[in-house]
Amino acid sequence: MDLSSKVRAAFEAAFPGNDFSFVRVLPATDPKFGDYQCNDALKLAKAMKKNPREVASMVMEKLSGDEAISKIEVAGPGFLNITVSGEWIAASLAAVAADKNLLVPQKGAGKRVVIDYSSPNAAKQMHIGHIRSTVIGGAIDRIFRALGYEVIADNHLGDWGTQFGILLKGYRELLTEDERQNLTVATLEKCYVLSAAKAKEEDGLWREACKAELVKLQQGDEENLALWKRFIDISIGEFERMYAKLGVKFDTYRGESYYNDMMPGVVQRLQEASLAVESEGALVVNLEDEKLGVAIVRKSDGGYNYTTSDLACVESRVKEYDPERIIYVTDARQQLHFKQWFSIAAKTGCKTKLVHVPFGLMSFQGKAISTREGNLIRLDELLSEAVRRSLAIVASRNADGTSAEPTEEDVRLAEQIGYGAVKYSDLSHDPVTDIDFSWDKALALDGNSGPYLQYAYARVSSLMDKAGVSGVEGAFSVEEPAERRLALQLLEFPGAVVRAAEAYKPSVLAEYLFQTAQLYSSFYQNTPVLKSEDAVKRARLNLCALFGQILSKGLSCLGIETPRHI
Ligand code: ARG
Repeated sequence: MDLSSKVRAAFEAAFPGNDFSFVRVLPATDPKFGDYQCNDALKLAKAMKKNPREVASMVMEKLSGDEAISKIEVAGPGFLNITVSGEWIAASLAAVAADKNLLVPQKGAGKRVVIDYSSPNAAKQMHIGHIRSTVIGGAIDRIFRALGYEVIADNHLGDWGTQFGILLKGYRELLTEDERQNLTVATLEKCYVLSAAKAKEEDGLWREACKAELVKLQQGDEENLALWKRFIDISIGEFERMYAKLGVKFDTYRGESYYNDMMPGVVQRLQEASLAVESEGALVVNLEDEKLGVAIVRKSDGGYNYTTSDLACVESRVKEYDPERIIYVTDARQQLHFKQWFSIAAKTGCKTKLVHVPFGLMSFQGKAISTREGNLIRLDELLSEAVRRSLAIVASRNADGTSAEPTEEDVRLAEQIGYGAVKYSDLSHDPVTDIDFSWDKALALDGNSGPYLQYAYARVSSLMDKAGVSGVEGAFSVEEPAERRLALQLLEFPGAVVRAAEAYKPSVLAEYLFQTAQLYSSFYQNTPVLKSEDAVKRARLNLCALFGQILSKGLSCLGIETPRHI
């Protein structure tokens, strides 16, 4: 039984008939207080108007004699400080190793979540600004899957709007036959830029023609619709090339256009429920009471907007998937938008939990990312650069130092390192913070970086190879302080995955993994493994093996691969 469950049972035995699901044991903040601490006697005492130290003592009494616990005391205002026995740690490690999920609780079994992330605009190339939603969303997706949830990853493409009128006109008149035949997203982007520039011309003729193309498209003109569809398919094809590199996979690509026909119905129902009212020709929902301003759901020209589209989208998702929750990963500037329509959805009776995960801005090597700064780097280019730089690392590890052509294997390895570095440099930060991407930090072999963690994995793998073992076998045993610290940390893995999911912050897991790798490294420096005598050696190798498994599973939850050899 895990320690929290034991302490919970002690609370129940001491104070029968109460709900103690809140009781939790936390790792001690300072080892001099023991291994773990429980502060919940204070909570209970407050509710029962009792002396907290007395409450803590009564719980402590119920725990006396438990073999898991080697020392327990009441401290301060009513904390329980607990030191566990080496036997309990060893048995707990064995339980983690024996479970195919490494005891990550399958809290999501039988539950479904929809995660809406990445969602770039079609007909444009993905650039560096698209990394955050893709990488953070991808990690949340994997973390939820690790917890047993059924995840539907949906890419809410920006695939509708005025830009398509501009594109259609440009496609017909500004591209060569060859460009039209071999259409790529790069060509579409160029076509848009040229056509949009012409739409600014004084006489307004081009602009009017673009508008006419858009109207034809909206009215279902077959030719325009077929071209539009082609633009979208080409865009998705190009995006999927990026997603394959980033280890991200979508179940559906339902762009904004998918919800078009549903919008009039949504607005009608809002009107019927008197939630939406006329204001200056537009239809709005007043959210002033909640200090969320006013949300337009139909513009004065009769068109719908982002709010309407998200309201239609949530209705459709709830009806089709009946998810337990829907998670949206976008930049923090969209916070008001989400607050507004979450509130409207709730008023219309939507019971599904809606979660917005906002992320901060990213700068590149100290400079804001913008076309003006000239650093609106294409994602493709950034990823190629990551591979190029990682190849240099791989080459420098090749013993003879020759600059021979990289082998296919070298390139594959450089991809794993480079993509991992780019992803980890984002995921190691709390999503809400603004971050700066720098090559030096992302690729640092000795800092909190993807490559650092991948090296830690490769090192422990080669240790196992050297010892001729492939995994955990036989018992654990935990004696030395450095061993004990690492072991206790390994036992925290399931909790770290759960906390990362509950907070929608992959950074919680990243931080856990970094700390674990540091504790492993100090264990390895202080404790002989291969040179110790047989029984001890085997037990220590088990600890190393479990560290490797946890590191690999944890990184895979972040979408980062773990090559065995670097
Ligand atoms: N396309 C939007 C953007 O580029 C993100 C869409 C997010 N999803 C949603 N259902 N609103 O920012």
